Amino acid sequence: MEEMKQKYDELGAYMEKMLEKPGPLMPVMQKAQDIFGFLSFEVQEFIAQKMNIPMVDVYGVATFYSQFALEPKGKHTIGVCMGTACYVKNSESVLNTMADDLQIMPGLTTADRLFTLESTRCIGCCGLAPAIMIDDQVYGRLKPDDVHGILRKYRDETPS
Ligand code: FES
Repeated sequence: MEEMKQKYDELGAYMEKMLEKPGPLMPVMQKAQDIFGFLSFEVQEFIAQKMNIPMVDVYGVATFYSQFALEPKGKHTIGVCMGTACYVKNSESVLNTMADDLQIMPGLTTADRLFTLESTRCIGCCGLAPAIMIDDQVYGRLKPDDVHGILRKYRDETPS
């Protein structure tokens, strides 16, 4: 409870500073996500009230930009690169195989909160295309058949 109050205080203080500048909504939402990890309904409401703008504006931005998460992320975040170099090397089938294995659409988190699946822009490893990133670890030159083994590694290291 106290920790939550501190987070809201930190966001409130940041907003005080930002409200003096033009176009503060994006940086405020980014800051809120950094503090809370995701933008819950309550956090969006807090931002809307403090900034004196309609909730629908905050929600619209939160849902439009893929960098914002509306639910807590999983323990591991998987980013499947859909940049040009990866796309031409069939990253779409890697993404589809991931989605099939995890049984979620990109942008969502598995029910056990182990994985969040995202499609991303270029992650800067085009020589390894098609590439993915799981947390800070890059996996390159992937084939869809590699997906199950990679996911198993993360599942195996998580106590059930
Ligand atoms: S396009 Fe995928 S790493 Fe650059």
